[in-house]
Amino acid sequence: MNLILLGAPGAGKGTQAEVISEKLGIPQISTGNILREAVKNGTECGLKAKSFMESGALVPDEVVIGILKDRIAEDDCKNGYILDGFPRTVPQAEALENMGINIDKVVSIDVPDEVIQGRLSGRRVCEKCGASYHIQFNPPKKEGICDKCGGNAVQRKDDAPETVIERLRTYHEQTAPLADFYDKRGKLVRVEGQEEVKDTSKKVLAAINA
Ligand code: AP5
Ligand code: MG
Repeated sequence: MNLILLGAPGAGKGTQAEVISEKLGIPQISTGNILREAVKNGTECGLKAKSFMESGALVPDEVVIGILKDRIAEDDCKNGYILDGFPRTVPQAEALENMGINIDKVVSIDVPDEVIQGRLSGRRVCEKCGASYHIQFNPPKKEGICDKCGGNAVQRKDDAPETVIERLRTYHEQTAPLADFYDKRGKLVRVEGQEEVKDTSKKVLAAINA
């Protein structure tokens, strides 16, 4: 099954992608995570992406489309995957179609902007393995330390309040129109994402009949 998770920054795409990945045994592909890893390793693609990411803008389509193509060609994607954070623009969605990829469902996780700031300011992410926490809603057992690998759980640079405002603006302008794009193709399911993680998961899993 090939799935897309749509939603504003902090809507819970990554959180729900992990749940689905565990349940269906297919990988979560987060272009944000891949880009952050590239920035950390100082690769050519990371150098191109860094300033866009830090300002809350989108990385140019051709860079991200190239990354995605390479990733879905890997062996673990044979039985499907969950796209978390891709596509983010109409040209990215068209690129998927031009690759001949069939998307089974697109789940839009809808959370009002007012809820987003609190979620993102409290998020902590492991520097080493990328696991995500929230100081209030999902704290690690030991403050600042990742439960899974013992790495440091820190705040993402782009979770600073001013950058979140910019990310939301970018989302409404460039990514939100994708809901309509997939609705016209009969693929879109909307899920309210304001409730607790486990309640949202139930709705997401029901939406994809898992
Ligand atoms: P990316 O990493 O994809 O960031 P994003 O889309 O802004 O999404 P987030 O990771 O912030 O949100 P999420 O929905 O995954 O939320 P999460 O589950 O963590 O992209 C970063 C940057 O990379 C972009 O700005 C762009 O520059 C670039 N980029 C990436 N892809 C690109 C593309 N395709 N094209 C161009 N550029 C691209 O949840 C957030 C927090 O809330 C967590 O702390 C979590 O614990 C908590 N939480 C989750 N669910 C709940 C709940 N139900 N109740 C309470 N708390 C909750
Ligand atoms: Mg994410």
